Amino acid sequence: MTLPRTISAETAYALERLQDKLGEDETGSLSDGHAVFLPRRVRIPSHYDVPSMMGDELDALLAEQVAYYRARAGEYDATSPLPGDDKSRAKLLDALQSFAPRGRVLELACGTGQWTTALAERASELTAVDASPEMLAIASTRVRNDRVRFVQSDIFAWRPDQRYDVVFFSAWLSHVPPQRFDRFWTLVADSLTETGRVFLIDERPAAAADEEVISDAAAPAVARPLSDGTRHRTVKVFYEPDELRDRLANLGWAVSAHPVGSRFFYATCRPSVE
Ligand SMILES: C[S@@+](CC[C@H](N)C(=O)[O-])C[C@H]1O[C@@H](n2cnc3c(N)ncnc32)[C@H](O)[C@@H]1O
Repeated sequence: MTLPRTISAETAYALERLQDKLGEDETGSLSDGHAVFLPRRVRIPSHYDVPSMMGDELDALLAEQVAYYRARAGEYDATSPLPGDDKSRAKLLDALQSFAPRGRVLELACGTGQWTTALAERASELTAVDASPEMLAIASTRVRNDRVRFVQSDIFAWRPDQRYDVVFFSAWLSHVPPQRFDRFWTLVADSLTETGRVFLIDERPAAAADEEVISDAAAPAVARPLSDGTRHRTVKVFYEPDELRDRLANLGWAVSAHPVGSRFFYATCRPSVE
């Protein structure tokens, strides 16, 4: 099959999933029966052409994601990090401390503020953004610091009103659908000073073992239950650190990515110098 220059998001996911399964220069087939020969060196384009109907579905999924976290806010700290993850968390915290998030710091999707306290220790100013007022209420009780400003906003609609020395996000990139990946990284670049740096934390594919993965959503997604018995869909894209590094290199970022146990990784990024 010859790939057109622009392919639909649906085809891109299908190819991506197939690429993960196939060895070098193997042939596989898509669910519609099309045979695909996929040399390992082929990179799936990161600019997806999203048909408008799918765009509506994606917007609906992203709205569900916000609703899910709003409903989960009160039980978030009891369920995340998962019990038994203390060692990984300590390693991630060590890595963040070594990175030294100084100066003006921006935290995207701060949630209940699990990382905001550590960021606030070194930052001269910290802006923490999240869409959920319930999450922000918990974070602002946890982090009482005049240098911290909490902003309630949808990250996909938000624009920075200043430049930051550091942009930090934990457990957020996996909630960015592939269709918004490039645009999200443009936002990150637009938020940084010339010498700005990024620190991010997220989950590796092994973490999917604890999730109910959904295959028919407008983006890779999982379904999660809350304690009241309701079930919610949220976008979830797992990355291996090397895969993310390569993908970001294509967008002009210099990335150093490190696994932490089988479940987590962290990465530091800065715009690459031409
Ligand atoms: C998995 S939590 C991560 C929270 C925190 N960073 C942590 O590591 O504990 C994801 C967060 O993203 C927020 N979120 C989801 N969709 C969002 C959106 N479109 N704009 C801003 N925040 C969003 C949720 O409210 C939630 O607080």
